[in-house]
Amino acid sequence: MEGFFFYTPFYILILMDISALECEALTALEAITTMSGLTAWHATHLGRKSRLNAFLRSLGELSLQEKKSLAPKAQAARKALEEAYERREKYIVGSDTVSSFDATIQGIRPAYGRLHPLTLVERDIRAIFSSMNFAVVEGPELETEHYNFDALNIPKNHPARDMQDTLWVSTDKGFLMRTHTSPMQVRHMEKNLPPFQIVVPGRVFRNEATDAAHETNFYQFEGLMVGAGVSFANLKSVITGFCACFFEKDVEVRFRPSYFPFTEPSVEVDIRMANGTWMEVMGAGMVHPSVFEGVGYDPKAISGFAFGGGLDRFAMLKYGIPDIRLFYGADLRFNNQF
Ligand code: FA5
Repeated sequence: MEGFFFYTPFYILILMDISALECEALTALEAITTMSGLTAWHATHLGRKSRLNAFLRSLGELSLQEKKSLAPKAQAARKALEEAYERREKYIVGSDTVSSFDATIQGIRPAYGRLHPLTLVERDIRAIFSSMNFAVVEGPELETEHYNFDALNIPKNHPARDMQDTLWVSTDKGFLMRTHTSPMQVRHMEKNLPPFQIVVPGRVFRNEATDAAHETNFYQFEGLMVGAGVSFANLKSVITGFCACFFEKDVEVRFRPSYFPFTEPSVEVDIRMANGTWMEVMGAGMVHPSVFEGVGYDPKAISGFAFGGGLDRFAMLKYGIPDIRLFYGADLRFNNQF
C-alpha cells in the first residue's frame, strides 16, 4: 500500500532517544548558575562530541523514509536546546550582581513624605499638656445639636448660635459637623467625676467666608480642668505656661473680656505677633454653673475652667505663616519646608 512502511527498531530507538536527550539536557540546564557550568553543559549537549551530534551523524544509516521523518525532529531538538542555552546565558549574566554592580553610579533617592505642620503642632500640644498631667481625649466630628449647642447653654433661637455658622448634616434629626471642640466638655463630664483635666485636639467645621485667618475647616484644642477650688488664676497660669512651652520663649499673652454662653466670666486670649499686632488664639473662661448642672455636678461644690484654642493660629504664629489657607493647599513647596 502506497505511503505505508515499517519503521526499523533502530529508527524507533533513535526517536525515543532524541526526546529523552532533550528532556535530560533541559533539566540539567535549569540547575546551572555559573558561566563555567554553562560552557561544560554546551560541550556535553550541543558540542561536536555530544550525543545529539552522534544521532545526527547516524541518520545516514537509515532509510530515506526514516531520514525524512527523523531529521526535522533532531533539528528541532537542537534548536530548542540552543534557545534554552541562550536564555540561560542571559539569566546568568543578568543575575551576576557582584560583577555588574557599579558603586560609583549615583543612586535614585526614593521620595519620602513629611509630617504636615498642623500634625507637628498637634503633637506638640499633646506632649505639653501630657507633661502638665492632662489626659488627651478625642471626640466625634459629626455631632448632635444637643452636645454642640443645647448642653453648652446655647438654647435654640439664642443669638449666640449665630456666632458659629453651622454646616448641618440633617436639620430634622439635629446632626451637624461640630463647630468647636467644646461638645467634648459635656461628653467627658457625663462619663467622669472630678477632679480631672483633659485636652481635646480635633477638627472643626464652620460655614463661613475664608480669609488669611479664617478657614471653613480648621483645628481646635479644647481644655477642661474641673475640681474643688479651680480658679481663674489656674486658668491664666495653665495658658501662659502652655504658651511659653509651645513657643519656647516668653510670649506676650493678653486676656480680653468676652462672652461665651458656657463660661462665666469669659475671655478671649490674644498673642502678640512679631509685627506688634495681636492675634486672637483662644476663647476661655470659668465653666458656667448651668453646664455643670446639666451633667449632674454641683456648681457650689466644684468649679472649673475651659478653653478652646485655634490650633492653626498657633501653628501660624510658631512658623511665621501669614495665611491659614496655605495649610490646606496641598502644595508640596509649602509642606516640604517643615
Ligand atoms: C469657640 O470655638 C469656643 N468653643 C472656645 C471656648 C472654649 C470658649 C471653651 C470658652 C471655653 P471661638 O469661635 O472664638 O470660640 O473659636 C476659638 C478659636 O478658634 C479662636 O480664638 C481662633 O483661634 C480659632 N478660630 C475660630 N474661627 C476660626 C476659623 N474660621 N479659622 C481658623 N481658626 C478659627
